Amino acid sequence: VSTLRIAPSILSADFTAIASAIDRIEQSGADWIHLDVMDGHFVPNLTFGPKMVADIRKLTTLPLDVHLMVQNPDISIPWYIESGADHITFHSEACVHAHRAVQQIQAARVRAGISIVPSTPVAAIEPLLDCVDIVLVMSVNPGFGGQQFIPSTLQKVSQLARARDNAGARYDIVIDGGVNQGTGQQLAAAGADVLVSGSAFFQAPEPARFVQALKNPGAA
Ligand code: DX5
Ligand code: ZN
Repeated sequence: VSTLRIAPSILSADFTAIASAIDRIEQSGADWIHLDVMDGHFVPNLTFGPKMVADIRKLTTLPLDVHLMVQNPDISIPWYIESGADHITFHSEACVHAHRAVQQIQAARVRAGISIVPSTPVAAIEPLLDCVDIVLVMSVNPGFGGQQFIPSTLQKVSQLARARDNAGARYDIVIDGGVNQGTGQQLAAAGADVLVSGSAFFQAPEPARFVQALKNPGAA
């Protein structure tokens, strides 16, 4: 009955075995593939760039949900459009002209997302809420998988759910960081639409069962 969607992040996969990670995600019944791009400047870690996204594009028809943790994303947004991303989410903190970047993404018929780190309030992106397709709330400080969920994030989720109802906006509320079955249940209750899962998904002995448990928190 739940419409909650799950987006496994390949950040916790073995980067020398990406095809099998994509296979694991497809077999699990998950909805999107979350791709964490890090530049070593906006966050203290480096991952991969547009070639990885283009190569994954050839392996799957699942939506590719690109999460840009990079400075000045307006420079690299065209690379990810070209690579076949279905969604491109960038950080409010990394981009002065965020409204222009949203238009740049949407002009290519790609869904545009805005993200905020734990120390940024929802108010910082309020002027964008009527034009974005995705709001990604970071529930850990971005840069690494396997960190602990920051509870104050729950208030941001309910605030965004209320704001959408009032404004008639259409964004999906995506939560990223520290998602497991316990936090997933709280996030679903607060109004999240999509849960990103990295370490918990790749550690699960049975990925399909894990995805079902996240989607139907009451059932298990
Ligand atoms: C963190 C990334 C996340 C990460 C989540 O900077 O944006 O997408 O993969 O990993 P977990 O689920 O392990 O917190
Ligand atoms: Zn992410």
